[in-house]
Amino acid sequence: MTMLFSFLTFSLLFLPFSISSSPNYIFPENHFINCGSDSPIVRNRRGGSTTFSGDLNFNPHHSDSVKDLTTTPESAGIYQTARKFTKSGSYNLPIDENGVYMVRLHFFPFVSLFDAKFSVSASGFLLLSNFSIPRNLTTSPVIKEFLVPVLKGRNLEIIFRPDSSFAFVNAIEAFVTPQGFIPNSNDTTHVTSSKNDLSSSVLNVIHRINVGGSNITDETDTMRRKWVADDDYLLIKRLAMNHSIYSDEPKYDQVGGATQYDAPDLVYKTAKEMNSSHVETQSNITWRFDVKRNATFFVRLHFCDIVSVQRNGTVFNAYIYGMFGKPISPYDRFEQFAVPFYVDFVVDSDGSGFMNISVGPRNDSKSINAFLNGVEIMELINDRVEWSGEKKNNVWIIVGSVVGGVVLISVSVVVILCCLKQRNAQPVENSSWWPRMSVNAGSSEDRTTVRTPIGSTTPDMNLGLKISFAEILHATNKFDPKFMIGEGGFGKVYKGTLHNGVKVAVKRSEAGHGQGLMEFQTEIMLLSKIRHQHLVSLIGYCDERYEMILVYEFMAKGTLREHLYSSNEDLGKSSSRSELSWDQRLQICIGAANGLQYLHAGLREPIIHRDIKSTNILLDEHYVAKVADFGLSKSGQPEETHIVTDVKGSFGYLDPEYLKSMQLTQKSDVYSFGVVLLEVLCARPAVDNLLPRNQMNLAEWGLSWLKENQIEKIIDPFLVGKINPNSLRKFGETAEKCLQENGTDRPNMMDVLWDLNYARQLQHPTMPQQSHEDTNSDVSWQMALTGINRLPSINVSTSCVSVADSEAFSELKIDETR
Ligand SMILES: *[C@@H]1O[C@H](CO)[C@@H](O)[C@H](O)[C@H]1NC(C)=O
Ligand SMILES: *[C@@H]1O[C@H](CO)[C@@H](O)[C@H](O)[C@H]1NC(C)=O
Ligand SMILES: *[C@@H]1O[C@H](CO)[C@@H](O)[C@H](O)[C@H]1NC(C)=O
Ligand SMILES: *[C@@H]1O[C@H](CO)[C@@H](O)[C@H](O)[C@H]1NC(C)=O
Ligand SMILES: *[C@@H]1O[C@H](CO)[C@@H](O)[C@H](O)[C@H]1NC(C)=O
Ligand SMILES: *[C@@H]1O[C@H](CO)[C@@H](O)[C@H](O)[C@H]1NC(C)=O
Ligand SMILES: *[C@@H]1O[C@H](CO)[C@@H](O)[C@H](O)[C@H]1NC(C)=O
Ligand SMILES: *[C@@H]1O[C@H](CO)[C@@H](O)[C@H](O)[C@H]1NC(C)=O
Ligand SMILES: *[C@@H]1O[C@H](CO)[C@@H](O)[C@H](O)[C@H]1NC(C)=O
Ligand SMILES: *[C@@H]1O[C@H](CO)[C@@H](O)[C@H](O)[C@H]1NC(C)=O
Ligand SMILES: *[C@@H]1O[C@H](CO)[C@@H](O)[C@H](O)[C@H]1NC(C)=O
Repeated sequence: MTMLFSFLTFSLLFLPFSISSSPNYIFPENHFINCGSDSPIVRNRRGGSTTFSGDLNFNPHHSDSVKDLTTTPESAGIYQTARKFTKSGSYNLPIDENGVYMVRLHFFPFVSLFDAKFSVSASGFLLLSNFSIPRNLTTSPVIKEFLVPVLKGRNLEIIFRPDSSFAFVNAIEAFVTPQGFIPNSNDTTHVTSSKNDLSSSVLNVIHRINVGGSNITDETDTMRRKWVADDDYLLIKRLAMNHSIYSDEPKYDQVGGATQYDAPDLVYKTAKEMNSSHVETQSNITWRFDVKRNATFFVRLHFCDIVSVQRNGTVFNAYIYGMFGKPISPYDRFEQFAVPFYVDFVVDSDGSGFMNISVGPRNDSKSINAFLNGVEIMELINDRVEWSGEKKNNVWIIVGSVVGGVVLISVSVVVILCCLKQRNAQPVENSSWWPRMSVNAGSSEDRTTVRTPIGSTTPDMNLGLKISFAEILHATNKFDPKFMIGEGGFGKVYKGTLHNGVKVAVKRSEAGHGQGLMEFQTEIMLLSKIRHQHLVSLIGYCDERYEMILVYEFMAKGTLREHLYSSNEDLGKSSSRSELSWDQRLQICIGAANGLQYLHAGLREPIIHRDIKSTNILLDEHYVAKVADFGLSKSGQPEETHIVTDVKGSFGYLDPEYLKSMQLTQKSDVYSFGVVLLEVLCARPAVDNLLPRNQMNLAEWGLSWLKENQIEKIIDPFLVGKINPNSLRKFGETAEKCLQENGTDRPNMMDVLWDLNYARQLQHPTMPQQSHEDTNSDVSWQMALTGINRLPSINVSTSCVSVADSEAFSELKIDETR
């Protein structure tokens, strides 16, 4: 016994009759999230129903909505859709009450979600790490439940972080539990172990057992819990028997007793008791539960005396690991029959991997019996992590492109047309488009097969862009952490310098995961074929030794977003926010529109970017805008595309028509670009959950003011009084047209570009004027058409990007401090 005690540390948290849950508790309406969906799903629970709303209002970064097309919402419910994170992303849930929150995560992978491996944290506690679901266990949902203490004034941030491949979640429940649901102070308890301060731990629910009855589903529980029948856990089955089910209601809400939220009546109306017909009547009933070795557990035993036939009839002992004979004497306190209550313990597990829980008779009881109604076993988690949910990922790029910042209005149109024309004339793959690189290009053997981490070949990759791993190691000083400029689920991004002196951003992905590989290939195939002064250039890639590395030009000024407003993700980093003037903003918009217009109309095979947002527009040292991140892009003729199976993109920017029809068109990019225009004008995020509901979504909020012709009321305070009203009106009109509900009502990028240039002209009346008064939007359409019909005679060949870029590489000037 002594040995046993020295091996086990026990602590008894004895709260049998003192604290109980608040009877005033009303089951909350928030937060129940049907992830990856825009439509609500209603689910029953005992005492009401609960609505899982779509997650459009949240703005998890680096995530996509995915849908199982083999099921319907009727058959699969909340499991038909999911949110998939390719990099760290989070749900930031506002809360309005201090307390312990029940956080329940639902995982039910369908085909495109197999092989996920990830970690999850909530409020800084590590909930799951290296979590994956083996394929042979994917026939039913996996539900993980935690009790998380959260302080009012701090959001409940649930962060999903891919460990190698990606993360996903089908549904999230996060709601406050009644006061006192989990004891949070020692006042009335005996605590003998220092490490079990419940108020600063998360509890991870391991077992929840309905003793003496059958399984209880979420639909019949008061808090949507599941309870599992106990029979499989009984050590010696013949020693116990089911007591017949109690036909009345348990007497809830007695002082010191349990409430219906502590456990539903189905738990308290059933119990196991000693098998009276068994000869060895004097024996304990023992259940054995598998638990982690060497961890601390919170154990709650539920009792309700539906067994005794006489007043103060039954007194018995409860044991954990055969110790602690805790006397259970229901009548002592309540003096009536069928009052539910519970007893809590905190106990360290032993090294066996099991926990024994027993009830057994006492010789001083009037009737020799013992019973149990329910068991909950939860593991204490104290692992803290400091992840930032929304990592900067796009900081990396960069360039030292010296290409000029100011593109004259007429010329910019001309450049596009020029390139467009050239494109038609000569295949884009023309190798002369490539800057000469002094890096080790792939040898001819490399051209035959390129092994990838998962053993497939990477077809059609542009092998002239291959860079050796040795070169990469040299460039990044062996991935020196000091050179790291960004990190995300896909991997880490380093600043580096190639042998030829070119500054680059090196994006290194974790090896061996499906999604990453696809994006890797997409990005190489697309980017290797295009080159434009307003698109971030791919300089090379490396796939040696299981590596997936992309090398881009280095973008010294980071993302557009950083220059518009600081966000949570910027906290702790010195904010790089600089006040961009209206003219600078117009030029940036014009640059990005140029890049996008080129993707849409300048290539033989048009490209739909699919993820236009302010973090994917990067700025070089001269604030020249370039569109980045082509991992989601789709290429091909419009007619041969694009009924898509997975909704991809970023919330706040997603085209509502695309969400409805699943039909992908270039007009979806136009919509997203419209949101970026509002972001630039108003200097606030596309989705801001901290704002009142009508203001959360920038597109909706902005449109409502545009319709009133009062957009000036919500613009960036820094711009107030600095924008020419005509310029503002034109800019606003342009954004409004981009945000039209129907794609066909939206302009194409050429029109947008034209309008933005016009808005810039209106800001500078001294610049060469177009002859049109700024009257109605139709003008821009006509002008765009005229532009196309009348090809310019100006010789702009030197502005053509290929030339400019290749020259740029030889004379790079990089901002070292970035
Ligand atoms: C996840 O697993 C990998 C190997 O399986 C291991 O190297 C890594 O340390 C684990 N990470 C965590 C957080 O447990
Ligand atoms: C699932 O597969 C793993 C290994 O692939 C195996 O260890 C485990 O027993 C399997 N589980 C079931 C329920 O088949
Ligand atoms: C709980 O008890 C332990 C041990 O007596 C003590 O160290 C700790 O401060 C107490 N916590 C609270 C919240 O009272
Ligand atoms: C107890 O009741 C449950 C539910 O009715 C049943 O599944 C189980 O077999 C019963 N156990 C015993 C020992 O009778
Ligand atoms: C009860 O739930 C457990 C665990 O989910 C499951 O294995 C068992 O088959 C269920 N029993 C019944 C009768 O549905
Ligand atoms: C109770 O004990 C008797 C005698 O050992 C046995 O026959 C019977 O099956 C037991 N009842 C249960 C529910 O196990
Ligand atoms: C249990 O954990 C403690 C500290 O966490 C450690 O010192 C001890 O070695 C572990 N024991 C076993 C059996 O793993
Ligand atoms: C659990 O109970 C079984 C049966 O009584 C016993 O063999 C085992 O040693 C017990 N384990 C502990 C840790 O008490
Ligand atoms: C029940 O278990 C406890 C702890 O192992 C033991 O001390 C007691 O004697 C047992 N009672 C019976 C009736 O077996
Ligand atoms: C109930 O029985 C216990 C044990 O026999 C005794 O200590 C207690 O005083 C009794 N309570 C009442 C109300 O009779
Ligand atoms: C009850 O058990 C205790 C300890 O096991 C013993 O000291 C006491 O004499 C017993 N009382 C009766 C009435 O058997």
